[in-house]
Amino acid sequence: MGKTRRRIIAGNWKMYKTIPEAVDLVNKLKPLVAGMADVEVVVCPPFTALSAVRDALQGSNIGLGAQDVFWEAEGAYTGEVAVGMLKDAGCTYCIVGHSERRKYFGETDEMVNKKARALLDAGIKPIICIGETLEEREAGKTEEVVTSQVKGGLAGFSPADGERIVIAYEPVWAIGTGHSATGGEANRVIRLIRDTLAGVVSKPVAEGIRIQYGGSVKPENIAEFLEQPEIDGALVGGASLKADSFARIVKA
Ligand code: PGA
Repeated sequence: MGKTRRRIIAGNWKMYKTIPEAVDLVNKLKPLVAGMADVEVVVCPPFTALSAVRDALQGSNIGLGAQDVFWEAEGAYTGEVAVGMLKDAGCTYCIVGHSERRKYFGETDEMVNKKARALLDAGIKPIICIGETLEEREAGKTEEVVTSQVKGGLAGFSPADGERIVIAYEPVWAIGTGHSATGGEANRVIRLIRDTLAGVVSKPVAEGIRIQYGGSVKPENIAEFLEQPEIDGALVGGASLKADSFARIVKA
């Protein structure tokens, strides 16, 4: 359908799964998504399970991502995890700026920018999350919010940086609520995000950036998003915690 961007479906496991549970999930997932070449599949377990999941994924077509990172290379930052540690654990992707981090941990666009910069410098691809809250949407500020999150989160990015990022548009009111956006509405905002990206990393690069939709994606509604011309995949929370539902989303 003229889309040259390779779709990417990523599972954000959030604060779920012990190490045995995580390994069990990917062992069930592997055969279900084996041989699917036209879509990139990534799982993002909690930090504690990363290296065990890396080992379980050996030889599979599933990539590994983390859910967060700190921007300093090392140091006295109790509780934080550095990019080098994520590389060591086998990560090729890392989510940054998820709305739960913005909400509960005070993450700002400036922090998102530093984290994404550190990841890119280490050769890990950031999945940069943006999206408006219900209040912002109802106040008619959706465009303003996503535009400033893109500009702030990607400040100083070169076209070469733009070639290595993924954006996840996740309206906050749709996350974990069961109330997804409509495909058409998500597509409209994502087109605006792409136009904003063009102003940062150039138009040709922006046209190549994969932009996911996230927020209550499930096997029953994924098709509505993937049929939209601007939507290149999904960031999936709740429905990624079971192998069969995540595999059904990947296969859609
Ligand atoms: P959800 O979460 O699919 O459970 O709504 C999505 C996300 O937070 O990335």
